[in-house]
Amino acid sequence: MEKFIIYGGKQLSGTVKVSGAKNAALAIMPACLLNSGKNILRYVPEVNDIYTMIKLLNHLGVESMFTNNELELDSTKIISQDAPYEHVKKMRASVYVLGPLLAKYGYAKVSLPGGCAWGPRPINLHLEAMKKLGAGIELDQGYIIAKCNKLKGAKIHFDISSVGATGNTLMAAVLAKGSTVISNAAIEPEITALADFLVGMGARINGIGTNLLEVEGVDELKPGVMNIINDRIEAGTLLIAGAITKSKISIEYDYPDNMIAVLSKLSDSGVKLLIKNGLITLDAADCDVKSVDVTTAIFPGFPTDMQAQWIAYMSIAGSTARVTDNIYFDRFSHVPELNRLGADIAVNDNTAVVRGVKKLTGAKVMSTDLRASASLVLAALAAEGSTEVLRIYHLDRGYEKIEKKLESLGASIERIQTSEF
Ligand code: EPU
Repeated sequence: MEKFIIYGGKQLSGTVKVSGAKNAALAIMPACLLNSGKNILRYVPEVNDIYTMIKLLNHLGVESMFTNNELELDSTKIISQDAPYEHVKKMRASVYVLGPLLAKYGYAKVSLPGGCAWGPRPINLHLEAMKKLGAGIELDQGYIIAKCNKLKGAKIHFDISSVGATGNTLMAAVLAKGSTVISNAAIEPEITALADFLVGMGARINGIGTNLLEVEGVDELKPGVMNIINDRIEAGTLLIAGAITKSKISIEYDYPDNMIAVLSKLSDSGVKLLIKNGLITLDAADCDVKSVDVTTAIFPGFPTDMQAQWIAYMSIAGSTARVTDNIYFDRFSHVPELNRLGADIAVNDNTAVVRGVKKLTGAKVMSTDLRASASLVLAALAAEGSTEVLRIYHLDRGYEKIEKKLESLGASIERIQTSEF
């Protein structure tokens, strides 16, 4: 087990590069199951969720090579259509193999993901969509058993906009016979990236980037090549690191349109932002941080994956901010930990009421999930004295070399072995 010791209160400065988006790569990697050959993905972040997906794909027969953020996935010799519990329990995104396996091989056995640290995260929409495409679905001893002769195009409307269900359905529909229309499809940039990758493989998809996707099934797909887009959540987390420490920092990031809501809220909080030539510069020196309410929403709204980090930032703001999560109602396990650092936050239903305090003070805190961990690191950067963040394996699931990046900006962070759990 490892933990961080963070010596807070230091101003940051300099420029860091944002890594490739974990959630785009996690959607795109299973799409390689739709072809038979060597796929190349560049700028894949070296984080544990990516290694978990590689292990699952290896189990299915995909051969892989991963060096310097370039991932080669060879799907020539698929030997299994079975995604076992030990892989899926580590990471819910494993369920992304369902659509491609079913579409290409007519069979998939995928463990049900089960609960998650912040409550139920059902996959009913994924299963309903597969049924509409003609698959037989049975649940047996914790597994989804999906079968079909050949998937057939269908009209699929999602009552809730779901990133995962849209991705899975898209991957199934590209090899189905005939046309599929997906309405209320997710338009998160990671899904657009997946659709672009599928088109590069020969898929026929109209409406990419909109919530109405029209797919004309093809008989086969060729291997693909893709540069993974920058991670908008890492970008937002790094910018808040600058804001919460009242610093001036820049991030190398190519897609500011993918983070308009976060940039707009940061600007409302009083920091100066300059977006130019692939750089976003945030200047929070001498800034009196204003409390700014946010409500999470589907893209292009404020992402739920930035909610915890925003709460950390608002904990040192001038008055009171209300932060509401409308995507995951229970995603607030970071709040009691932030309060251990001296924050004053109360949660009522799915809203955190964050009363800004003059200062945070270092303490021992515990990570509970990926974004919760990020919020603790941010608060620790601003806190007086030292903070120990335990269970940073959560952070390692999704942030590439985060302490190296923050250290390069002048933060003081040590990663050390611990027997504490
Ligand atoms: N939902 C259903 N039924 C379903 C699927 C989803 O009711 O079958 C609900 C969920 O409970 C939730 C809403 O729909 O209330 C949206 O969930 P969505 O399916 O969009 O989430 P996801 O695909 O499971 C991805 C990201 C999450 C991110 C969410 C929301 C990946 C691998 N994961 O999850 O990322 O929070 O979209 O944007 O892309 C993270 O990176 O920390 C993370 C959790």
